Amino acid sequence: MENLQLRTFADYKKAYKKSTKDPEAFWEGIADTFTWQKKWDKTLEWDFEKPEVKWFQGGKLNITENCLDRHLEKLGNKTAIIWEPNDPDEESRYISYRQLFVKVSRFANVLKNNGIKKGDRVCLYMPMIPELAIAMLACARIGAVHSIVFAGFSSAAIARRINDSECKMLITANEVYRGAKKVNLKEICDKALEETPSIESVIVYRRTVEPTAMKDGRDKFWFDELQKAEKDCPAEEMDAEDMLFILYTSGSTGKPKGMVHTVGGYMVGTTYTFQNVFQLEKDDVYWCTADIGWITGHSYIIYGPLASGATTVMFEGVPSYPDYGRFWEICEKLKVTHFYTAPTAIRSLAKQPLKFVERHDLSSLKVLGSVGEPINEEAWHWYNDNIGKGNCPVVDTWWQTETGGIMISPLAGITPTRPTFATLPLPGVQPVLMDEQGEEIPHTNEPVEGRLAIKFPWPSIARTIYGDHDRYKEVYFSTFKGKYFTGDGAYRDASGNYRITGRVDDIVIVSGHNLGTAAIENAIDEHEAVVESAVVGYPHEVKGNALYAYVILYNDIEPSEELIKEIREIVANTVGPIAKPEKIQFVSGLPKTRSGKIMRRILRKIASKDTENLGDTSTLLNPEIVDEIMADFKA
Ligand code: PRX
Repeated sequence: MENLQLRTFADYKKAYKKSTKDPEAFWEGIADTFTWQKKWDKTLEWDFEKPEVKWFQGGKLNITENCLDRHLEKLGNKTAIIWEPNDPDEESRYISYRQLFVKVSRFANVLKNNGIKKGDRVCLYMPMIPELAIAMLACARIGAVHSIVFAGFSSAAIARRINDSECKMLITANEVYRGAKKVNLKEICDKALEETPSIESVIVYRRTVEPTAMKDGRDKFWFDELQKAEKDCPAEEMDAEDMLFILYTSGSTGKPKGMVHTVGGYMVGTTYTFQNVFQLEKDDVYWCTADIGWITGHSYIIYGPLASGATTVMFEGVPSYPDYGRFWEICEKLKVTHFYTAPTAIRSLAKQPLKFVERHDLSSLKVLGSVGEPINEEAWHWYNDNIGKGNCPVVDTWWQTETGGIMISPLAGITPTRPTFATLPLPGVQPVLMDEQGEEIPHTNEPVEGRLAIKFPWPSIARTIYGDHDRYKEVYFSTFKGKYFTGDGAYRDASGNYRITGRVDDIVIVSGHNLGTAAIENAIDEHEAVVESAVVGYPHEVKGNALYAYVILYNDIEPSEELIKEIREIVANTVGPIAKPEKIQFVSGLPKTRSGKIMRRILRKIASKDTENLGDTSTLLNPEIVDEIMADFKA
């Protein structure tokens, strides 16, 4: 394993220049440092119009050989994963690279014994325990495609995702600890399983000793299956462009998009970005607090760190349990050197008395990271001053489920940081800002603002939406001809630093979670009292954004607190508790254009208390409704 780290700002500039002048040669040099069973024939083939992107075609590899086997000789005894349980009194687990290799191989045989073959889809609905990492790597070992569903999602959300990609197996746990609560995951799965004909078997890990209802012939316990499994499992030979995983993300329509990532490019992209953004040294302890159910966990708890031979921390619990000092207690206990979290977590912890931070020794920290949403100035400074003590570079990393890896970010200690700015693109990333007319805004020495697109492929770009390539084209490649559109707006300063200003489509980022308003509206509309609804985001002190729902009821229905509760409940059950609207306002109509389209721009402004300039409302079909909505606004 070779170190891919750039060391100086000059190195960065040189690498960036090379990556734009000759992207193929640039990525070839990086890809060459990995273990391939057979070297690729063609580095890149692409066409953003079709759209089609292929990296390292003809190359054969297995990502687990790069995350595990290749480290065994030199790093076999090094800790790969440190697991920190929800309950601070329970023991942490330290799993070395060799132990992880053994566990993954054996569990890979469990998958095989249960009929899973290369290309089959396996759904994982698991708590943050090492077995989640083991299960995902075991899938990758035999070429099965994992589809991880965040274990806070509802039965309906699991079923929809399982059915969309026709998963053959579901892996879950009986229960999960989350702070002071225990949640029965198996029960949630059982409800989903009533509607998932493709599932043939369910593997259940017992996280607690509680009795678990099992269905004969379908459900099997993890440990029982392990007993029957062989120890060795050779790594399946995968084509660089074979699917590694599917991960669902919200879309502007109600249906989630199953983003498809492939083996070769994803491995090269996540590993290169991990090493360069975080700049780990040999004995560092790296902790990303995300859940593996999101892309951040895939790329920067598992694949990037393990392919780099790093020690990565997995935390089962929540930042507030047993008190608001938990993150800092763990940093002290495990001597964490690199800490990567989300602005929403920073804001909620910044609201607590400083004693929760001060009682812990945070001197091991070297680098702080932020991801998932724009980090506001106040949160940035709190993080930098109180956690980093002014000594740790803060890397504000901008990227997406679709990009697979970090795209715009400082490189810790190498390139400059600037509060609220994700700063400069990584080598290999060619961002552009687009104006209202769809033209590229040229790079001059003027600060500019526009919509953020990327004009050249990078290895870890998602290749398609599972089963719906037309939608992939429509969502990402039709807004600006020949370019990938991110859905974000951005500002660029005179030195070329980017600051992401937020989504410009119908996706709202709530507490760092990407939520499509359409899916929430569909859920609300399912309530029998509801005629129609519109959901928009508005700024929220801790969550970044919160959701405001405008709801039209049938004429004979009286608005009530009970109804509000029921609507929130429906959303929690269909989309998930994180999607519950913060505020619900009953209205008699929604502002619509003459063609019947809801004018969300106006609703967004009202929800954000930004009603000074609503723009021209006279062209609306029903302009009078705007005053009514403003009069009943829920402050
Ligand atoms: O709007 C951007 C925001 O999160 C979106 C991607 O969400 P998701 O696919 O769930 O991935 C989140 C983790 C990578 C982006 O379109 N976003 C992500 N990181 C940042 C950000 N906005 C501002 N600054 C960031 N650092």
